[in-house]
Amino acid sequence: MYKFLLVPLASLALFAQEPISPIPANLVYEKAKAELGKKLFFDKNLSRDGKLACVSCHNVTKNGADTRAYSLSSEGKELGVNTPSIFNSALNNSFFFDGRVADRKKQVEISIESPSELDNSVDAITNRLIQSPEYKKMFDAIYLDSVTKDNLLDAIAEFEKALTTPNSKFDVYLRGDITVLSDDEKKGYEKFISTGCINCHNGVNVGENMYQKMGVFIPYRQDKNLNGRIDVTKRDRDKFVYKVPSLRNIANTAPYMHDGQVKTLKEAIISMREHQFGVLNNSKSIEQIEAFLHTLTGETPAILKEEK
Ligand code: HEC
Ligand code: HEC
Repeated sequence: MYKFLLVPLASLALFAQEPISPIPANLVYEKAKAELGKKLFFDKNLSRDGKLACVSCHNVTKNGADTRAYSLSSEGKELGVNTPSIFNSALNNSFFFDGRVADRKKQVEISIESPSELDNSVDAITNRLIQSPEYKKMFDAIYLDSVTKDNLLDAIAEFEKALTTPNSKFDVYLRGDITVLSDDEKKGYEKFISTGCINCHNGVNVGENMYQKMGVFIPYRQDKNLNGRIDVTKRDRDKFVYKVPSLRNIANTAPYMHDGQVKTLKEAIISMREHQFGVLNNSKSIEQIEAFLHTLTGETPAILKEEK
């Protein structure tokens, strides 16, 4: 569908039509709320046994993901589903590998209650926070009705909103500085388009706006832990269909895929070519696409740079 957009990359006037758009540099979020959300995100008291916080799996010094294929539950058991990065998830159309929810507060509620995540109840946490003079003071300063279930979800959702990574090299390029990309990076972008990666990975998040089968041409390894969208829609054709993930900061969020079984970015590109297009050739193209994907690494979100 993007064939018509294959214009000479140097023609500035046409940048507005690029299939990928830059992350807005100053996305608005409410600072006080986001700071409260950040405190909650780091707080192990949110888990049942005091051993896990959101940050235990979504390591914000590691791009909001986990370097392990599978994060560990508080009992030390592997989850069986890779922990996705939460950076830029504010720009997602839906959440979780099967896209089971689109509302951000609902997502936070699921992340708190899911056995694959915090495995606690929102009510239990709310009751605990009501007992804490420190939290009560912080909630009072922001919310008229102080500590409530909805305000707890709202504050964490606001912190997630603050986790965008603007000004990647590629975004600088999209804004008009065409000198910033090397020849190989530019060729990689052209090949990302001409090979068809762009058909699924596009928009501001270079993904996150559609569901697609993993294994269009060649089936991907069977996964007993995550069947994909079929769990949401109950339609057979949605078996092994997943939310197309964002490729922003992709160079720094290994391992890859919902099962975390692909270890390097190069292997991920090869795997996509094989399973989505049924081809596997030309190592130069793979290197160039890899070089392009490295330009999607953005800046550390401001909220993480400040004193805790
Ligand atoms: C024990 C590890 C673990 C903990 C703790 C955890 N998560 Fe997750 N998180 C995951 C996994 C695994 C997934 C993917 C689950 C799925 O898609 O079924 C996920 C998915 C998400 C997503 C969806 C990302 C996307 O792009 O679809 C968000 C956002 C998120 N978690 C935020 C949180 C927040 C906020 C907390 C704390 C309240 C939290 N997580 C606690 C492991 C964890
Ligand atoms: C038909 C749609 C489609 C096409 C075409 C496609 N992808 Fe993907 N891509 C996906 C889906 C769906 C996933 C998630 C797979 C999973 O989690 O098992 C994915 C995952 C990825 C990942 C891993 C992301 C992560 O965080 O784990 C990378 C890297 C990637 N694709 C790059 C590419 C490249 C490069 C191309 C072109 C060679 C490409 N994709 C073509 C749909 C597509």
